[in-house]
Formats: sequence, C-alpha cells, structure tokens
Amino acid sequence: MMKEKVRVYISQEDVEARIQQMADRISEEYKGKTVHLVGILKGSVMFLSELAKRLTIPVTMDFMSCSSYGSGTVSKGIVKITKDLDESIEGKNVILIEDIIDSGNTLAYLSEIFKARKPASFMICTLLDKPSRRVRREIQVDHTCFTIDDYFVVGYGLDYDQRYRNLPYVGIVEFED
Ligand code: IMP
Ligand code: MG
Repeated sequence: MMKEKVRVYISQEDVEARIQQMADRISEEYKGKTVHLVGILKGSVMFLSELAKRLTIPVTMDFMSCSSYGSGTVSKGIVKITKDLDESIEGKNVILIEDIIDSGNTLAYLSEIFKARKPASFMICTLLDKPSRRVRREIQVDHTCFTIDDYFVVGYGLDYDQRYRNLPYVGIVEFED
C-alpha cells in the first residue's frame, strides 16, 4: 500500500505573516468602505477566516460552491455552480477569495458571472497561485499571497481526497511504498 507523508512547504508562521500583510493592504485599499468577501467552498474557508479576522474595515461574507467537470485532478474547464450566493452582490465591493489558482478555469468562469451581477467593485484574492499551469491567461489576479511551483499542495483549506484541509501550514504530499 502507498503511504503518504506531508512535508511542510510554507510554514504556519510564514502563511500567517503573509495573510497579515495582505489584510493590512486590503484594509488600506478599501478604507471607509465595507468589503464583501466571497469564499469558494471548501478550499478557501481557512484563508478567508484568517484574512477576515485581520481586516480593520467592515466585512460581510458569503459563500459559493462549484464543481468542475473532468476526471481526477484534471480540470476540463466546465464549471457548475452547486450552491449559489445567499445575497445579491449588486453595488458591493466584492473580493473573491480562492485557495489556489491552477488552470484558471474556475476563476475565468466565476469572474464573468460576478461581473455580470454588477458589484461596485470586484477583486480576486488568492492564497496560492501556480502560474505555470495556467490555461486561461486572460484572468487577472489582483492579490496573491504566494506564487508556487507546480506541486500538488495540501493544508490551509486545500485537500487531497478531502483530507488535510485542517493542516495549519501548506504542505506537499509525498508517496512512499
Ligand atoms: P482551476 O480551475 O484549475 O484553477 O482549479 C482550481 C481548483 O483546483 C482549486 O480551487 C482547488 O480546489 C483545485 N486545486 C488545484 N491545484 C491544487 C493543489 O495543488 N492542491 C489541492 N487542490 C488543488
Ligand atoms: Mg477549490
């Protein structure tokens, strides 16, 4: 049987220091306004919570769930909303919160939907970005905490087969026989 081991890639200390920087930047950028954080379930939950706790401006939040068709870890670019937002985003300063941007298919699709719903402003903020894997080059990521190489990472919300989301650091799964 294959045994898995998770190696620390970005430590808890480094992740949290970076999220603090990001929160300071967003609080400054949106001074005097309320931001509406929209988390894409389930991967963004931990990042969204840690970011939200550190924002010094008024915050509201909502969540959306989507599935992308395709086999295994290969995204085919077809995205379906399985749980839509509870509230309208019209006139709100929306910040879409993602765990990781890989091919960019999910965000390319969601960006179009969100912009059509007429928010006052729209920004994308992600914990991780793997630009080497990007298929949809047109998407613009406004804030990225960490740009990483092409590793399959887990922790801080990210899963491998639904596990490891609770790890307080970003790790790389290693397999041994
Ligand atoms: P995209 O549509 O290809 O950009 O896919 C993004 C989604 O794929 C993320 O929200 C994750 O759920 C998943 N994903 C991509 N790379 C990884 C990874 O390294 N670890 C865990 N999940 C990943
Ligand atoms: Mg995801």
